[in-house]
Amino acid sequence: MGERIFLAGASGAVGRRLVPLLVAAGHRVTGTTRVSEKADELRGLGAEPVIVDVFDAAALAQKIAAARPAIVIHQLTDLPRDLDPQKMPAALVRNARIRDEGTKNLVAAALAAGARRLIAQSIAWVYARGAEPHREEDPVDTAAEGERSVTIRGVVALEERVLEAPPLEGIVLRYGFLYGPGTPHQRAARPIPVHVDAAAFAALCAVDRGASGIYKHRRGEPARRHREGRARAGLAGRLPVAAALGKASRRPSSSHG
Ligand SMILES: NC(=O)c1ccc[n+]([C@@H]2O[C@H](COP(=O)([O-])OP(=O)(O)OC[C@H]3O[C@@H](n4cnc5c(N)ncnc54)[C@H](OP(=O)(O)O)[C@@H]3O)[C@@H](O)[C@H]2O)c1
Repeated sequence: MGERIFLAGASGAVGRRLVPLLVAAGHRVTGTTRVSEKADELRGLGAEPVIVDVFDAAALAQKIAAARPAIVIHQLTDLPRDLDPQKMPAALVRNARIRDEGTKNLVAAALAAGARRLIAQSIAWVYARGAEPHREEDPVDTAAEGERSVTIRGVVALEERVLEAPPLEGIVLRYGFLYGPGTPHQRAARPIPVHVDAAAFAALCAVDRGASGIYKHRRGEPARRHREGRARAGLAGRLPVAAALGKASRRPSSSHG
């Protein structure tokens, strides 16, 4: 049965790929941007657009209450699209703020609106040194210093806020490094690569599958025939999604940019 879904970050690299997947699965999507010029694009993708800044807690609460979602999906980040190294130090601070304060506002608004589940984007390169591939339960690198410590603190805050907000079912998706449309990389280039469509697909799967907890992307698990299918399985395979996974891996390869 279709759900009412509030997608924070519908205009981002993952959000734009996720809206059509949710709509095709029969869900009713309200999607956010701060920029009124992007509203038509979101409408074209199939979402009902709302203009809101996650740091405006009162406005966010009002928009989420009006949307009456069963599911809230958090795909907010604040990084330069080209990941320009000159801009990254300031961007990492802003990004950590969105993970902490932005997530706090989203959780409060989701609880107030009576949402059942909150699915949030996190990252897979957070671990302390140790045997690889890392597993969800491995220790996070909380002793990190410098720029990495800013990121780690933001991730820890996001994950705690999402997972410790009963009765909300919190699902954390630790994505690998994104590539594909809307990112600077059109091919898998970095460790633990994940195509934006694979990341979007994992969020779709998390709408109605998986217990509350953390799901980490692992490369090539389980192995599938298509390259993108493998990327999907690397995270979505952590959720019990065999049927949906098989269906999605037959989608035309042109959709992967
Ligand atoms: N795992 C990874 O490797 C990873 C994860 C995330 C991002 N990235 C990279 O970072 C770059 C940017 O990615 P992106 O396009 O998804 O991020 P983005 O352009 O920063 O936007 C992400 C989403 O967050 C929203 N947003 C940002 N600040 C907000 C705020 N204060 N209030 C409400 N909404 C806010 C944006 O909405 P607006 O329309 O209002 O801007 C957008 O919908 C890309 O190169 C991407 O590949 C990589």
